[in-house]
Amino acid sequence: MAETLKIAEGGKAERYALLYEQAVSLLRGEADEVARMANLAAMIHFTFGFFWTGFYRVEGEELVLGPFQGPLACMRIRYGRGVCGSAWKEAKTLVVKDVEQFPGHIACSSLSRSEIVVPWWREGKIRGVLDIDSESLATFDEVDAEWLERIVAIL
Ligand code: SME
Repeated sequence: MAETLKIAEGGKAERYALLYEQAVSLLRGEADEVARMANLAAMIHFTFGFFWTGFYRVEGEELVLGPFQGPLACMRIRYGRGVCGSAWKEAKTLVVKDVEQFPGHIACSSLSRSEIVVPWWREGKIRGVLDIDSESLATFDEVDAEWLERIVAIL
């Protein structure tokens, strides 16, 4: 496990590429969705040292907290609310450079400064989202969006 979580040398894209390969190999053979989400959240979180990394799952009209790494978080988010609910409603990845500039952002922690939310698709429907928060402004960009979409698709 320590090896799986080791931080790769190189730039962000290279680190994501290695993380992707490790995730494919780690999750192969495990069918349980919660187990898969839990280890995927841990791998992403500890590879990059983010502030909060985790999943919310679609349950009716709400997102319900799933496996995560980091401080306590809101347990339920309504459709269209906050960054997570907006990514679900708009059915696309949202990159927020400064959460204070995002109308309706849900502040689970005042330490969170920027955020990315990636929808998790299964059979043409959004089943949940991956949410990652950073303590720094403008942590996430198109490279994160592209790789995290690929990584979430492993689920
Ligand atoms: N900031 C998110 C809420 C989830 S937590 O940050 C873990 C949002 O606005 O949807």
